[in-house]
Amino acid sequence: MTRETSKHRHIAKAQPGSTVSESYKKLRTNIRFSVMGQAVNVILVASAVTGEGRTTTAINLAISYAQENKSVLLLDADLRRPAVAQAFFRTSRAGLSDILIGQGKLQDALQQTDIANLFVLPAGTVPANPSELLGSAAMLELLESLKSQFDVIIIDSPPASSFADAQIVGAMSDGVVLVARSGKVTKEAVRRTRLGLEHVGARILGAVLNNSSRGRVESSYANYYGYGGDYT
Ligand SMILES: Nc1ncnc2c1ncn2[C@@H]1O[C@H](COP(=O)(O)OP(=O)(O)OP(=O)(O)O)[C@@H](O)[C@H]1O
Ligand SMILES: [Mg+2]
Repeated sequence: MTRETSKHRHIAKAQPGSTVSESYKKLRTNIRFSVMGQAVNVILVASAVTGEGRTTTAINLAISYAQENKSVLLLDADLRRPAVAQAFFRTSRAGLSDILIGQGKLQDALQQTDIANLFVLPAGTVPANPSELLGSAAMLELLESLKSQFDVIIIDSPPASSFADAQIVGAMSDGVVLVARSGKVTKEAVRRTRLGLEHVGARILGAVLNNSSRGRVESSYANYYGYGGDYT
């Protein structure tokens, strides 16, 4: 799969200065401002249901941080339907799940992208027990090691209303960006997802209202709404 045919277009990179790219920059800036001096290095991107744009948001937020000259790791913790590595590379490799079960080494799995400062840790082989792997001591250890290697870690995740994975990883993160796509999810489902994340002590940094007009990425946009805004 080439970059052009990949289902995730690297919006921020492809169209620097575009409205879409600008809106991710704004999201990045708002994240920084929303934390009042507290370190936010590990950010989980979550949403209630499938197809809301978590992966797209995670990729573009990561690119946005990388363009700020931060060393950035995009970590695919959607072990159920991995999509991050496929958006960047043609070949698949070992990844997070393989490392967590002791079948792979971090230094072999980490992949440098063609975007300066941006690295990817793929999800790896789809395991039978994603929640268990993500909640393991090995995951905590790995995250600690990654924190010492990267300025920012952006984490993709499976839909939070179906699986515990986002809550599990959310509890290990410094903050969560909640994606909600109009027409795909109800406000009630978004609310339940937010409460579920807060229940495990995750800090909601804000919500991205991801709109689209009939799949045309060019005419779509993502807006940042501060916590307490309409959609949260
Ligand atoms: N703002 C947008 N405008 C138009 N299309 C979008 C937008 N955001 C995402 N998409 C498209 O919608 C589809 C789903 O997006 P994405 O894969 O990022 O969502 P996801 O929440 O990660 O889905 P999944 O549940 O499958 O992991 C993709 O084809 C993506 O290119
Ligand atoms: Mg996804």
